[in-house]
Amino acid sequence: MVAKKREYKEIKKEAHSLKEKLIEHSHRYHVLDDPIISDAEYDRLMQRLIDIEDQYEELVLPDSPTKRVGAPPLKAFTTAVHSFPMLGLDNAFSDQEVLDFNDRIKKNLNQENILYTVEPKLDGVAVELVYENGLLTTAITRGDGTSGEVVTENIRTIGSIPLNLSGQGNTEVPELLEVRGEVIINRQDFDTLNKQRLENNENLFANPRNAAAGSLRQLDSKVTAKRPLDIFIYGAGDMLGLNIRSQNEMYNKFKKFGFKITPHIKSRVTIHEALAWYKELEALREQLPYEIDGMVIKVDDIEIQKFLGQKARSPKWAIAYKFPAMEEVTKIEGIIIQVGRTGTLTPVALLEPVNIGGVTVKRASLHNSDEIDRMDIRVGDSVLVIRAGDVIPKVIKRLGQREENYHLPFKMPDLCPVCKSVIKKIEGEVAYKCINVACPAQIKERLKHFVSRDGFDIEGIGDKLSKQLVEQGLINSVADLFYLQEKDLLKLERVGEKSAINIVKAIKSSKDISFKRFVYALGINYTGETAARLLAEKYKDFNQLAKATIGEIEDIDGIGPITSTSVYNFIKSSENSLIIDKMIDAGVNIFNDKTYAANSDNLPDNVFFNKKVVLTGTLETMTRKEAKDILIHCGAKVTSSVSSKTDFVIVGKDAGSKLVKAKDLKVKIIEEQVFKLMLE
Ligand code: IVH
Repeated sequence: MVAKKREYKEIKKEAHSLKEKLIEHSHRYHVLDDPIISDAEYDRLMQRLIDIEDQYEELVLPDSPTKRVGAPPLKAFTTAVHSFPMLGLDNAFSDQEVLDFNDRIKKNLNQENILYTVEPKLDGVAVELVYENGLLTTAITRGDGTSGEVVTENIRTIGSIPLNLSGQGNTEVPELLEVRGEVIINRQDFDTLNKQRLENNENLFANPRNAAAGSLRQLDSKVTAKRPLDIFIYGAGDMLGLNIRSQNEMYNKFKKFGFKITPHIKSRVTIHEALAWYKELEALREQLPYEIDGMVIKVDDIEIQKFLGQKARSPKWAIAYKFPAMEEVTKIEGIIIQVGRTGTLTPVALLEPVNIGGVTVKRASLHNSDEIDRMDIRVGDSVLVIRAGDVIPKVIKRLGQREENYHLPFKMPDLCPVCKSVIKKIEGEVAYKCINVACPAQIKERLKHFVSRDGFDIEGIGDKLSKQLVEQGLINSVADLFYLQEKDLLKLERVGEKSAINIVKAIKSSKDISFKRFVYALGINYTGETAARLLAEKYKDFNQLAKATIGEIEDIDGIGPITSTSVYNFIKSSENSLIIDKMIDAGVNIFNDKTYAANSDNLPDNVFFNKKVVLTGTLETMTRKEAKDILIHCGAKVTSSVSSKTDFVIVGKDAGSKLVKAKDLKVKIIEEQVFKLMLE
C-alpha cells in the first residue's frame, strides 16, 4: 500500500514536471521561434503525459498541454456576447488621410505631439480570449462585433496560445483578462496545406485568411488541431487586476504572460515616424512569413484612447493605413496546359496583363479541371486574381455575369500538348496525366526539380537551359547531367564559355549529396521535403530503402499509404534503377545525413548549441542548405542578418556586407575550413 502511494506520488510529480516542460518547449517553439529540443522529443514527452492522464483521470488539469490535441466534436457552436464590442478600424489610403487623422486628434486634445504605436495589420480572423484567474476559459470569434461564436476547443489547439497565464513563471495573474488578436496561417504553411488538399482531392482554400477562418469554424477540434494556426495578440477587452497605461506597456506585459506579439512594432513614434515605418513595412511585406494588408496606427496612451472614445463601429484613436491590394480583377484570354514532372497537366490562365501590387501579372494557375469546374471559369470571364509572395498568382473566383453565346466550358485535352501521347485520368485522383515518362516536358520539369535548392542545388540551370538541354537531346534522364561537358553546352544558343565552365563546375561539386536531398531530388510522386527527410531518418542509405516493403515504409510516422506505394514503385522500377546506377557510375556520392552532424547524441555539448549563427559568402565544401541543416541539428539558430545578437558568422568565399558588419560589431568570424574542422 505504502509502495503504491509512493508510486502514485511520483507519477503525480512526473505529470507535473512533464506539463511544465511541455509548456516551456511549446512556448519556445511557437512564440519565441527558438526551440531547443527536437519535435520527436516533444512528441515523446506529450505521449508520456497522455498515457499518465489516460490512467489517472484526476491528474488531468484544465490547462494540461494534452488539451491541445482536440476535444470531442460539437453539434453546433454556441454564441457569446463580448463584454466590450470588438470594433473595426477606419481605413486610410494615403499619407494625407493619415495626417488628417493626426490633425483631428491634435485638435480634439488641444495638444501638439501625439505619440503612436504602429504595427502590421494582420490579414486573418479576429478572436477574443477570456482568461479567468489566469486560466483560458472562453474564446469567441469577432462575429458581428457584439457577439461571436464560442470556439474555445479550437483555440486551445493553437500552440502559441497560453492555456494558463502563470505558465511562464508569472506569479501575479489578473483576475480577468480578455485579450484580442488575429488568428492567421503563415504563407509557407498555407502552401503546404493547399498542396496536401490538392493531392487529397479536396477544395483549395483561396488564401491564408480563408484557410484560417475555415479551420477555426470546425466543429471537430481534432481537425483544427491538424491545421497550422497561429495567433498574434494586438489588444484587450475587459480586465480586472491589471493596470495598463499604454499600448506599448500592454504588449510588454502580454509577452510576459506568454502571448505572441508581432515583432514589427514601433512604439511611441510621431506621426511622421509612423509614415516612414509604413514605407519600410511595405517594402518588407512580401518577405514577412504571414500576410499583412496594412499598418495600424494607435494612440499609445490608454488614457488618451479613452478620452477620444469611439464612433459607432470604430475607435477615434486608431486607423488602418492600407497597402495597395494584392488582388485585382482581370480577364481570361486563354487557357493553356502545362505538363509537370510527374506528367500532371495543370491548366494555366493567360490573362489580360494586370498590375498587382507593382508586378505585371500575365498568367495565373487554375490548379486542375475540378477547380475550373468548381469556379465555373471560361475564356472571356472576368476573374479575381491574387498574388502573394513568390508563389504563382492564382485565379480565385469568377466575377460578374456572362453574355450569351459565350465560350464553351473548358475541357482537358485528349492528347498531351507536348508529346501527343494519350492523356489518362487516374482513378480516384483529380489530375489528368500524360503517362509517357519520356515526354520532353516531363524530363525538363524533372531536371528543374532535380537541380533545385532542396535537391542537388546546382546553380545556372533554369527553365530556358533545361528546355534547351532536353530539346537538343543532351539530356534524356537526370543522370545525363553528370556526363555533360563544356563542349556540349557550348553548342547551345546563348551559352558562352564562362557559363559553360561554371555550369560543369557546379554539376561536379554537387556530386556529394546527403541521402535526404537525393531522395527529394528524384522527384518521386508525393515525396516532398518532409517525406524525404522522414525516409532519410529511417533508412541509412539507398540500399536499405530499396529493400523496404510498402508496409515498412508506411510504418514511418508521417508517411501514408499513397506516399509509401509511390516510393516503393519508384524504386522497384527498372528504368529508375538504371538512372540511379548511371548517376553513381558518374561519381554521385550519397552520404548519410547524420554522418556530418557533430555530437548528435549529446547536443548541448557542442559550441553551436543555442547560438545565433549567420552564413555568408559561397561555401565550397558543402552547400549552404547542408551547412544550415547541420547547424540546426547542433541546436543553433540560423538567421539571415548579422546583428549584435549574432554569436558566429561563418564565411565562405567572396563574403560581402555581412562580413563587414560582423567585423564592425566584433561578432566571432569562422572561416569555412575552420567550421569543417569543428564539425569533424
Ligand atoms: S486593432 C479598436 N490591430 O483589423 C481596435 N486590429 O478592421 C481594433 N486587425 O477586427 C483592432 N491586425 O481583426 C488591430 N494590429 C492590429 C490588427 C487588427 C489586424 C484586424 C482585426 C480587426 C480589423 C479591423
